[in-house]
Amino acid sequence: MSILLISKTKDLTPFRDALLALDNNLDVEIWPDISSKERVTYAVAWNQQNGLFSLFPNLNVISSLGAGVDHLIQDNSIPEHVEITRVVAPGLTEQMCDFVTMSVLNMIRDVKQYHLQQSQARWNVVNRTPKNSLKAGVMGLGELGERTAIRLVSNGFRVSGWSRTKKSIDGVTTYSEEELDRFLADTNILICLLPLTSETTDILSLKVFKQLKKPAFLLNAARGEHLVEEDLLYALDMNLLEHAALDVFKNEPLPDSHPFWSREKITITPHIASVTDPHEIANLILDNYKRMLSRQELNNRVDRQKEY
Ligand code: NAP
Ligand code: GLV
Repeated sequence: MSILLISKTKDLTPFRDALLALDNNLDVEIWPDISSKERVTYAVAWNQQNGLFSLFPNLNVISSLGAGVDHLIQDNSIPEHVEITRVVAPGLTEQMCDFVTMSVLNMIRDVKQYHLQQSQARWNVVNRTPKNSLKAGVMGLGELGERTAIRLVSNGFRVSGWSRTKKSIDGVTTYSEEELDRFLADTNILICLLPLTSETTDILSLKVFKQLKKPAFLLNAARGEHLVEEDLLYALDMNLLEHAALDVFKNEPLPDSHPFWSREKITITPHIASVTDPHEIANLILDNYKRMLSRQELNNRVDRQKEY
């Protein structure tokens, strides 16, 4: 029996080494260097080449190498009986809380503008809206969104949150799926931490930007396909949005010729909001691998109907 690591974008060697450091007897292989397709029972995948999974007749479980599973949900070579799991890890959550807090503060304190002014040796104070008259609204109150909302509260923000089912979180005004309009009308700083599903694709659109309280800001740290790119450019041009911080894009790496690169009102990071640590995830994979072998319930299972 072997564990197969598959990705077309990530170097998987540190993940294989971290697994072998935990148990030297494991049989861990990296696609396409495998000894036998029949021996693969457990796969770990990130941005994999689509259509591969039907090649492994004894595959039982596929774990995403990250929190998101859209790359697996969209791959229709995964047989019905194969379980999908994902990463839920304190380190991943902590990084996201830090990233969102940093990005939101950078936006509302005009840090990009000051960097620009420094490059021109220009001393100029930008007018700004005080933090206590802005409200941060987190879309998605799951493993990452809930902790992020709590972190923002502890940083002195007024915070609201939106999720499919209504949540109760101390200090956070919460809204359920059908209350989207009320949530938006109560939000200045929109923070997307939703999973990418057929319902959430293109959710960050002009219609949504128009409903935000002004001044309005956008942070997308979820998936590029949540955002309608041309709507963002229009909203920035029309001053419906002051600034957007984007960590994720429809096409990654973001192509050199993409209009986002040259916009002063857009801050770009290369999908680094929260990065899976090989050592942290190796423990989770090994635990679930053992659970699979002993037919125990797996941790962090994904509901394939819900798509997350
Ligand atoms: P999660 O635990 O599955 O939480 C998802 C949240 O979104 C839940 O609160 C869920 O509502 C809500 N939701 C789902 N569909 C919805 C809908 N149609 N309307 C309203 N709310 C909806 O996910 P997570 O672990 O927090 O991760 C979220 C996403 O972050 C991942 O899927 C991934 O794409 C992204 N991510 C990005 C990075 C990065 O580096 N940029 C790193 C890690 C993760 P319920 O609670 O009611 O189910
Ligand atoms: C990163 O984007 C993740 O889903 O973990």
